[in-house]
Amino acid sequence: MSTLDSILKETRSFAPSDEFRRKATISGMEAYNALCEQADDHYLSFWGDLARELITWKKPFSRVLDDSQAPFFKWFEDGVLNASYNCLDRHLAANANKIAIIFEADDGDVTRITYAELHRRVCQFANGLKSLGVKKGDRVVVYMPMGIEAVVAMQACARIGAIHSVVFGGFSAGAVRDRIQDAGASVVITANEGMRGGKNVPLKPTVDEALALEGAESVKHVVVYQRTNGGANWTDGRDVWWHKLIEGQSETCEPEWMNAEDPLFILYTSGSTGKPKGIQHSTAGYLLGAMNSFRWVFDYKPNDVYWCTADVGWITGHSYVCYGPLANAATQVIFEGVPTYPDAGRFWRMIEQHKVSIFYTAPTAIRSLIKLGADLPKQYDLSSLRVLGTVGEPINPEAWIWYYETVGGGRCPIVDTWWQTETGSAMIAPLPGAVPTKPGSCTLPLPGIIADIVDESGAQVEPGRGGFLVIKKPFPSLVRTIWNDPDRFKKTYFPDEFDGKYYLAGDSAHRDESGYFWIMGRIDDVLNVSGHRLGTMEIESALVANPLVAEAAVVGKPHEVKGEAVVAFVVLKGPRPQGDAAKTVAAELKNWVAHEIGKIAQPDDIRFGENLPKTRSGKIMRRLLRSIAKGEEITQDVSTLENPQILAQLQQPL
Ligand code: WT7
Repeated sequence: MSTLDSILKETRSFAPSDEFRRKATISGMEAYNALCEQADDHYLSFWGDLARELITWKKPFSRVLDDSQAPFFKWFEDGVLNASYNCLDRHLAANANKIAIIFEADDGDVTRITYAELHRRVCQFANGLKSLGVKKGDRVVVYMPMGIEAVVAMQACARIGAIHSVVFGGFSAGAVRDRIQDAGASVVITANEGMRGGKNVPLKPTVDEALALEGAESVKHVVVYQRTNGGANWTDGRDVWWHKLIEGQSETCEPEWMNAEDPLFILYTSGSTGKPKGIQHSTAGYLLGAMNSFRWVFDYKPNDVYWCTADVGWITGHSYVCYGPLANAATQVIFEGVPTYPDAGRFWRMIEQHKVSIFYTAPTAIRSLIKLGADLPKQYDLSSLRVLGTVGEPINPEAWIWYYETVGGGRCPIVDTWWQTETGSAMIAPLPGAVPTKPGSCTLPLPGIIADIVDESGAQVEPGRGGFLVIKKPFPSLVRTIWNDPDRFKKTYFPDEFDGKYYLAGDSAHRDESGYFWIMGRIDDVLNVSGHRLGTMEIESALVANPLVAEAAVVGKPHEVKGEAVVAFVVLKGPRPQGDAAKTVAAELKNWVAHEIGKIAQPDDIRFGENLPKTRSGKIMRRLLRSIAKGEEITQDVSTLENPQILAQLQQPL
């Protein structure tokens, strides 16, 4: 780990203003420290009290944690609840007419719906799903554009106890099929098309293609929301229009009462090897994590207008669009489009127009908007903002400072939130009215989250040294298992190296003198492209599935906007292509990957060799490839290389 020692030396620190601190729910470091102490001293009652205070239970739980089958932890196990009830019904007494969602479409059209209206739509759609035979425990794939209906679909599943598995609308037919197959989904909910950046994005055709592939036979029905005037190819008996399905359905629907540990959803995420992992979250523990962190991390107040730009296809869109804000009866903006359409002022115009007070986005979006118009925010009235957030990857200090000064007017704390699909909710992040921020650091763990940085033997490393980021105690919103693969769950997240006791996040990190956490990157072969995890293995498999390709290795290289870009080293079955022929094949392979997985996984750069650099035992030397991808001089020892002459080939750009 010594090679990972940080080169970042960031000393600037920004404390919340007195005014912000005074009004904050968790106000000042003393309040933060007191909560941490409470959690340390009475861990179970700390979580138990929060669960009783924040969740409305149909039947209360009698025990907080069952760790007898660790690492398969059970929280609040005999409690009974419904997540959708907690997000909707319980608000109807006081907040029926409060705006739940301000939806801004790609073309600028704005729709506002109240909690009463959202509740009505969720109930109708839930009844529609029931009429298709969907029952508690069934898996439903949601492949939708960003919009009110995506949230309705997820909430409706939660309402009837069906397990949703949202697949990001940018994923290809192959990726959709893999997820349907692994989950054994019986229904897919989609739209005919989406609208992004002024273009129509086909969704139903991709589902049709996925369902024609082998392995998708479990699907009995496809529900299609008509987003655009474009039609859709139809399979009678299987396909049903959303608007037809809800016709005549009752506007109320008794929630299915669920046990705390019943799965709420599965969300697939990349691993370094093998197929994507179906991250399985529980009903109560997950809901508690999303709900509690939402009010702490954003210092949420009932009159806030909150906007998280993440798509529901990612965990951020689950915890901080679908569940966290709704469980708190918040008003939120949901946006269908992209930050750069019709121009790079779109976000700032929307913040002004909707008077957004809490804004949560990704470093990659911030970097691209700096590039396209660093001065643009100044043309808008952003005075409604009071908290800014980031998620998905480390934010470089310069982008942080720009966000702080130019967007936040030097007034808004930035909450840099470190967490993962697996953790379900934010783990390390400043509570904005308490913890001073430092550009590039996610600062300190939330109270109740026992995070640490350890070496290979599990011993804590000293300040300034890099190590493995671990969480030493189970917490309610942690992943329960990998769908259909408990062994992989155990091996991946609770490895024997740490006696199976620590949750291994898969990130490296270090801590500074004041105990602040600085995330350094992944320890496995996983890339982070625009804040999204991509397994190198998956991209390699996609490449090798092309009939021209014999072998492929994929690494990341730093990218100004995306954080990391994909670089592929490819060996063809035929001779090594050169000149224009190489360019043609490279273009073909880029399209191929976009088709197999999705545009997000498309390589920026492809290099061809007669072979890949391997050790005598046949292991691909990835570290070498990473240096080549970055255009660095090769300083590593290449004496163990079986075939040193191919390095020159791979160094040649097309
Ligand atoms: C990985 C998790 C959490 C929702 C979005 C991504 C990286 C996430 C930060 C941050 C530095 C971060 C980590 C993590 N990451 N947030 N604030 N600072 N790195 O979810 O796809 O499950 O990816 O994203 O490497 O392990 P995900």
